[in-house]
Amino acid sequence: MGKKIGLLTGGGDCPGLNPALRGCVMRGLDHGFEFTGFLEGWRGLVEGHAQPVTLADVKEIVGKGGTFLGSSRTNPFKMEGAVQKCLANLKKFKMDALVACGGEDTLGVAARFYKDHAVNVVGVPKTMDNDLSATDYTFGFDTATTIAVDALERLRDTGRSHRRIMVLEVMGRHAGWVALYTSIAAAADWVLLPERKVDLKAMCAHLKKVHARDQVALVVTSEAAELPGAKREKEELDQFGHMLLKKRGVGDSLAEVIEKETGIETRSAVIGHIQRGGPPTLFDRILATRAGAKAADMVAAGEFGKMAALRGDEMRAVSLEEATAKLKTVPPDWLQLADTFFK
Ligand code: F6P
Repeated sequence: MGKKIGLLTGGGDCPGLNPALRGCVMRGLDHGFEFTGFLEGWRGLVEGHAQPVTLADVKEIVGKGGTFLGSSRTNPFKMEGAVQKCLANLKKFKMDALVACGGEDTLGVAARFYKDHAVNVVGVPKTMDNDLSATDYTFGFDTATTIAVDALERLRDTGRSHRRIMVLEVMGRHAGWVALYTSIAAAADWVLLPERKVDLKAMCAHLKKVHARDQVALVVTSEAAELPGAKREKEELDQFGHMLLKKRGVGDSLAEVIEKETGIETRSAVIGHIQRGGPPTLFDRILATRAGAKAADMVAAGEFGKMAALRGDEMRAVSLEEATAKLKTVPPDWLQLADTFFK
């Protein structure tokens, strides 16, 4: 009889999860695997909510956003008795291995199940934030950033009509990759990232210069950028200890500051979860498909405690522990590249 493999998708969803599941299942069928999907991330494994996953479920979902298995930010290691329930359900459903698609948090849980409980786990890295170590890119990022680029270009049009400064707030939590790429790819005039101290004086002086010349000036801010002197309201934490950042608004505060400092009418827009929906880009479809297929191959080869990472142009099995040890934030050479274009 073929091996029985569990699937789950955890954490914030992103475009690419469906093609990753498809890649895993379709390659897994070649290995003779049977698949069971646990619903809504680790919660499905805790509660034993599962469904069979067949070729018909995945065949046509390569271009679909979201995840048909559902997702949640459940952390079984933070819930009384939940780890034991997960282990019991893996037994009950006769799982030989588990493929977990997620970011740092979901894969951190996977790493612990492997290390502390000898569960046969393989990871598939995803996150629109692109902040996972040990892989060059995570799927979801390209789509999210493409949407942000489109948004900023739209803001340029309306901003120029009204001779305004426009601020775009993008997601990305603790890392500024989305804001950084958006600023470079859509020719912004300034970017604010959590990795760098915000210099409001220098920014406003530059925006004034650009606005006088170009009749518009564009700023991208990461949702996690810290404005000097501004106190972020206390926010709820998820089970992984991350601020939920539900009250978006750094963009609004920034627009107020800019208008006050420059005397130029300024507006802000937040794209938030719009970045997480819709069809994945070509890049994300292919990366997700490759990661899913690689994960199935890793199960077949018994390469557990690892995730399917992109290194250069190759998919490689890398340690989950290494991938989840440290968040990948924006390094100084990238900041220098962005600064080159603020002229
Ligand atoms: O981690 C992905 C992400 O989209 C972050 O960029 C953002 O801060 C967070 O999730 C939002 O989470 P939620 O969907 O729970 O509001």
